[in-house]
Amino acid sequence: MEFDVTTSVNPDDLEKVVSVAKSFGGNDEDIKAIRAYIKNELTELGDNRILFLMNLQEHGTVGSVQLILKNANSDKDLANSNDVAHIHALQINKAFHRMGLATKLMNKLELKAKEMGIRKLTLGVDGDNRKAISLYDKLGYFNLKVAEGREKDIPLFYKYKKIS
Ligand SMILES: CC(C)(COP(=O)(O)OP(=O)(O)OC[C@H]1O[C@@H](n2cnc3c(N)ncnc32)[C@H](O)[C@@H]1OP(=O)(O)O)[C@@H](O)C(=O)NCCC(=O)NCCS
Repeated sequence: MEFDVTTSVNPDDLEKVVSVAKSFGGNDEDIKAIRAYIKNELTELGDNRILFLMNLQEHGTVGSVQLILKNANSDKDLANSNDVAHIHALQINKAFHRMGLATKLMNKLELKAKEMGIRKLTLGVDGDNRKAISLYDKLGYFNLKVAEGREKDIPLFYKYKKIS
């Protein structure tokens, strides 16, 4: 499958990210809330965040992920403006799951991060997100720490990978 991965610091790319989120369903209100949430995150593009977009030749944007450089939950273990950065909001259009696209997108992100002098990548994953945990295990991410999750009884696992 022909694809490319572009990096963006352009807030106008919001709709490309929303189009991927829409593939998971939800009514107009849900999508409105998701759009507002992502729009707010993208105000930090260029300063604190880089957006990676995965594009397929025939389909346009089918995946996205952010790299947070300076401030991730005000936790210096997660991003430190220097050599530690935090991966956030990885998503692949539902119609294109299990085709190896997330793996390829993450590989590109890791390569770019390395070029930027980042030596350690971190990420957070909900304790019940079996698919993502399996993906991160395969990509070589190790457990960093456990925090309280968004939902009661579902912890948030922080993971890391050394890329230097
Ligand atoms: C998690 C997600 C990004 C994976 O994307 P993907 O393109 O389907 O992943 P890949 O095809 O590269 O799969 C790589 C590995 O992930 C794991 N995986 C992916 N989908 C899986 C599934 N349905 N069941 C179990 N493991 C799965 C497997 O280990 C898989 O390797 P394998 O196919 O050799 O068994 C995708 O399911 C998604 O967008 N989920 C919703 C958003 C999300 O949860 N993001 C993560 C936030 S932390």
